[in-house]
Amino acid sequence: MANPISFFQLNTGAKIPSVALGTWQSDPGLVGEAVATAIKVGYRHIDCAQFYGNEKEIGLVLKKLFEDGVVKREDLWITSKLWCTDHAPEDVPVALDRTLRDLQLDYIDLYLIHWPVRMKKGSVGSKPENLVQPDIPSTWKALEALYDAGKTRAIGVSNFSSKKLEDLIKVARVPPAVNQVECHPSWQQTKLHAFCKSNGVHLSAFSPLGSPGTTRLKSDVLKNPILVTVAEKLGKTPAQVALCWGLQMGHSVLPKSTNEARIKENFDVFDWSIPDDLFTKFSEIEQARLIKGTSFIHETYGVYRTIEELWDGEI
Ligand code: A2P
Repeated sequence: MANPISFFQLNTGAKIPSVALGTWQSDPGLVGEAVATAIKVGYRHIDCAQFYGNEKEIGLVLKKLFEDGVVKREDLWITSKLWCTDHAPEDVPVALDRTLRDLQLDYIDLYLIHWPVRMKKGSVGSKPENLVQPDIPSTWKALEALYDAGKTRAIGVSNFSSKKLEDLIKVARVPPAVNQVECHPSWQQTKLHAFCKSNGVHLSAFSPLGSPGTTRLKSDVLKNPILVTVAEKLGKTPAQVALCWGLQMGHSVLPKSTNEARIKENFDVFDWSIPDDLFTKFSEIEQARLIKGTSFIHETYGVYRTIEELWDGEI
């Protein structure tokens, strides 16, 4: 019954810790404390992004934790992401340098293209006039240079469909190590999961709890009757079962929390597992994508005119 999945191996050979603390929508003023709590609880993976607007606070806390000897830099896995306004090849190293400065680090472990979406340099918000044609191969080359320089130990993408990932793999000199996407029992990414698996790309799951705090999404992932029944049978919470499902599927999971009890709860997923007879029930769960990227779509001016185009039909 044990589920000792604490790492997954990437195509670089590096081992990515399987449970991360997510920091999307972690408010400044709370995120630093959440990171400190998580690391003290045993998390060794923090998922960040320049767009989240909280890397400076995370950097201050990391510096203190290193100084106090709570954790060593080499024992942590730090991911960050390139925002859509910085896709021009000359802007990519500048963006990573800003992230490194904010996080007070010499290198990060993984740098991702946040979306297959490009916006005018310096633009704020995703008004249709800010959206421009992405050129993923040229952005990727700039990431490869950062990988060669050792500023990031692995490179990858986020929010890429199977088709967009396949197009990238065809031109990449350094193959993407990770595709970080929405993934939870109510959006299992079956097709993308299979594509990633057969191409040596690790799938990392953001919003693994279905983002229950994002009220505009009206998420009821944790209330799904199959998930709730399995949780009751195992004496675990629905959140823990959702995370354990992700681990058993082979995904790293990035639950966000700024609450100490829930940070602990979300890490208590290693010494048990979902038995096969209950695991198979997850295939009956109705599927729906929650995070559609609608702000990147415009039917007249957008590079992607429909949700189908952004996700290449994987909706
Ligand atoms: P909080 O930060 O107050 O704990 P996701 O990672 O899927 O985007 O979900 C994050 C949301 O889920 C946040 O609103 C977070 O709120 C909440 N959350 C985190 N852990 C749990 C948990 N164990 N049970 C219920 N809600 C949780």
